[in-house]
Amino acid sequence: ADGPRQRVAVFGAGYIGLVTGACFAELGHQVVVRDVNPDKIELLRSGDVPIYEPGLGDMIARNKERLTFTLDVREALDGAEVAYVCVDTPPSPSGDADLSRVWSVVQSLEGASHLRAVVMKSTVPVGTGTRVRAALDAAGLRHVGYAANPEFTAEGTAVRDFLHPDRIVIGSSEEATARLVEHLHRGVDGQVVMMDVLSAEMVKLASNALLATKISFINEIATVCEKTGADVGHVARAVGLDHRLGPHFLRPGIGWGGSCFPKDSEALRQLASNTGYHPPLLSAVIEVNNLQKRRAIQRLKDELGTLEGARVALLGMAFKPGTDDMREAPSTVLASRLLAEGSEVWCWDPLARPGQVQPWASAVRHASPQEALEGADAAIVVTEWPQLEEVDWVWAATAMRRPVLFDGRNLLDPARMRAAGFTYLSVGRP
Ligand code: UGA
Repeated sequence: ADGPRQRVAVFGAGYIGLVTGACFAELGHQVVVRDVNPDKIELLRSGDVPIYEPGLGDMIARNKERLTFTLDVREALDGAEVAYVCVDTPPSPSGDADLSRVWSVVQSLEGASHLRAVVMKSTVPVGTGTRVRAALDAAGLRHVGYAANPEFTAEGTAVRDFLHPDRIVIGSSEEATARLVEHLHRGVDGQVVMMDVLSAEMVKLASNALLATKISFINEIATVCEKTGADVGHVARAVGLDHRLGPHFLRPGIGWGGSCFPKDSEALRQLASNTGYHPPLLSAVIEVNNLQKRRAIQRLKDELGTLEGARVALLGMAFKPGTDDMREAPSTVLASRLLAEGSEVWCWDPLARPGQVQPWASAVRHASPQEALEGADAAIVVTEWPQLEEVDWVWAATAMRRPVLFDGRNLLDPARMRAAGFTYLSVGRP
């Protein structure tokens, strides 16, 4: 792509900030990423990447002429024409998003003389843009434009999702600002969709809520399949072939986790409730997701008679494969419940490394799935890591104290697992 390059200050060096910064540098813009965490900045400056995201490290390395990292706001804003807000907006105890990091970025922009636009990439409640606009006006930045540009990248494929998105949503009431953000994306292969700020903010929450709804829906169908003898695998496949419904996000399992779906569905429910509307569908979507984990524990308990004293191997801890991220991971809920039932928790994950926090501080970690399985009374496939398909399950059936396996992701073949000697439970399959 040609055309003039922009100077961009990216605030936040988390998943979103780093991917955004690296991709803009890749597109030829001059980017400074600013974060408040000295360790993170030092690591990035030394050429390391603090998170696991395929392709990101290489992209940062090959763009080092155009991509720098700083702790210093002034340095980040020096000459910057666009400020991208990519800080995290974690849930506060009330369920509303905590916007304190967003506000501290907005406050730090005062006096940024080259700035032409502030762009919100962080996921924020609908209406935040109006408040940011007012704060910019009050800070003497009336001439600086504002746009919402929500992100739709998934962890593990974030770099590809950024450069080849299904759509680029730009929300702004100012034509020049919208064009500037569009220009920044020159070279990105995706359809640009322009709208007002409020709608753009809503697109993000609605998209994640609908994805979560699809998963909770198929999980509910899986439960009905279990009770009636139908196979959810066949059902999901055939349902997904209807082009009006689509095949994606119909994989049943022990429920969705991660840094986005739990937080965003709760934030949308809270946002609606604040207006006096209590959204029944969204509440049910969240409830089904919680139920999925309770049912997994209950089914294991029914099988073993009691969970007390049982040694249970949790295979996979990350909220999905291809990431080391454990935020809102189903594994954490399962580990807590098992410990509360008096089980001994053994665990394995190729990437995720929980700190010495509960429940993980009370769990025994193993270097391989085999180690975690040896001597266990039961195992749960929590994350569908491909390594688990490589396990010799015939061996595992004899190495375990009791060959009981709950496949929480329908990763393995029921007939083969039974032939291997397992009492095999899965989600919605006979
Ligand atoms: C999600 C969305 O997919 C992105 O579009 C969005 O930009 C991102 O949140 C965000 O808001 O930042 P991510 O959380 O990285 O991305 O992960 P997903 O791949 O969507 O998976 C979320 C959870 O749903 C995982 O726990 C996964 O195991 C589960 N899942 C997914 C299912 O149980 N079944 C499925 O069919 C698909």
